[in-house]
Amino acid sequence: MKIGIFDSGLGGLIVARAIRKMMPEYDYIYFGDTKRVPYGNKSHKAVYEFTREAVEYLFQKENCAIVIIACNTASARALKRIQREYLAKNFKDRKVLGVLIPAAEVAAQFKRVGVLATLGTVTSNAWAIEIKKFNRKMNNQTKVFQNPAPLLVPLVEEGENERAKPFIVKYLQPFRNKNIDALVLGCTHYPILKKEIKENVGHSVKIISQDKIIPRKLKEYLARHPEIAKKLSKKRSVKIITTDKTQNMDRLVKKWFGSIIKK
Ligand code: DGL
Repeated sequence: MKIGIFDSGLGGLIVARAIRKMMPEYDYIYFGDTKRVPYGNKSHKAVYEFTREAVEYLFQKENCAIVIIACNTASARALKRIQREYLAKNFKDRKVLGVLIPAAEVAAQFKRVGVLATLGTVTSNAWAIEIKKFNRKMNNQTKVFQNPAPLLVPLVEEGENERAKPFIVKYLQPFRNKNIDALVLGCTHYPILKKEIKENVGHSVKIISQDKIIPRKLKEYLARHPEIAKKLSKKRSVKIITTDKTQNMDRLVKKWFGSIIKK
């Protein structure tokens, strides 16, 4: 059986590449909903429906034992319901994990945290909620400040890192007088702008980026769950599927994932 990685579009390839780099032995299938991207400004209901359909496809047609929801918006707005309602009823022996909770655990170690994300993720308040849960376990307190950064996704997709700079300044502005000690990149695409964001936010602020967190967390998860790990096949294959063959697809796959030829 395979590891499925789902995203609203192609941005999730950034974390998919990092996962594969850490665990190249497994078989992966990446599913990008390029026909319906972006999810960041869609309703709660739509994000849930689209995500559930993708998960179903990955379980039924691609025989995935586990699906990682690489999209922050879907992790924030659909994951819990999928786990509680859909999995519990239809696929008790399979797993769906998101990318928000593992990064929230890291963020909870800081005192004052800024979160940049899509509008959908920010309005769900999921980062603040999940960070608070870890705070209760760790017996500490984090003050969370969130700001949506809607224009960064299209700029990253166009490779316009330079043109993104004024928007980065604008989106980081609300954090300026907040004295944050960490900044969460709460969206698939933002790791591409890590350098530009770091320059702007100041070097003393720790950047929390999922491409650095998720591969290790997944590895630890599989070590803790041999009942899932033992089902995973190890032919080092990768398949990338999308709901629409968009014009920029080949370019972005190459840029963000690289070669999909077996290693
Ligand atoms: N994948 C989305 C996320 O991480 C960004 C793109 C979109 O809005 O669909 O939130």
